[in-house]
Amino acid sequence: MERTLSILKPDVTRRNLTGAVNQRIESSNLRIIAQKRLHLTLEQAQRFYAVHQERSFFNDLCTFMSSGPVVVQILEGDNAVNHYRDVMGATNPANADEGTIRRDFAESIEANSVHGSDSLDNAVKEIAFFFSEMEIVG
Ligand code: CMP
Repeated sequence: MERTLSILKPDVTRRNLTGAVNQRIESSNLRIIAQKRLHLTLEQAQRFYAVHQERSFFNDLCTFMSSGPVVVQILEGDNAVNHYRDVMGATNPANADEGTIRRDFAESIEANSVHGSDSLDNAVKEIAFFFSEMEIVG
């Protein structure tokens, strides 16, 4: 069993698609064991994405992630980090496989509907960024 951090991005909340995206997640055998809806400040988005601060897209990414509500959640399941990355599809929806969340819902590489941790180490850090032990109900 592993845990990974999932974020439903502002393009999903804006289009009222949180249930549709979570149906994909739950039907892929991942269990939502913690969940909250937040409106990140620009500063919070910058702290969360600090690993990308040298990238050309950093400012736009953080502006987008603080442009509306997000839903942050912890997913638990077998091989959850890599399994969720498969369920999400490629970062750029133009390259995402059929049947993936990003292929079916994402608007662009920036408004790409979902975030998922890219490694187990980062999952631990990202989960700790948003959740306390009391909020995790496995
Ligand atoms: P995410 O998994 O949330 O991690 C970083 C995000 O940066 C990524 O999804 C994309 O939405 C966003 N991004 C915007 N432009 C790019 C780009 N050129 N390459 C990679 N990620 C990008």
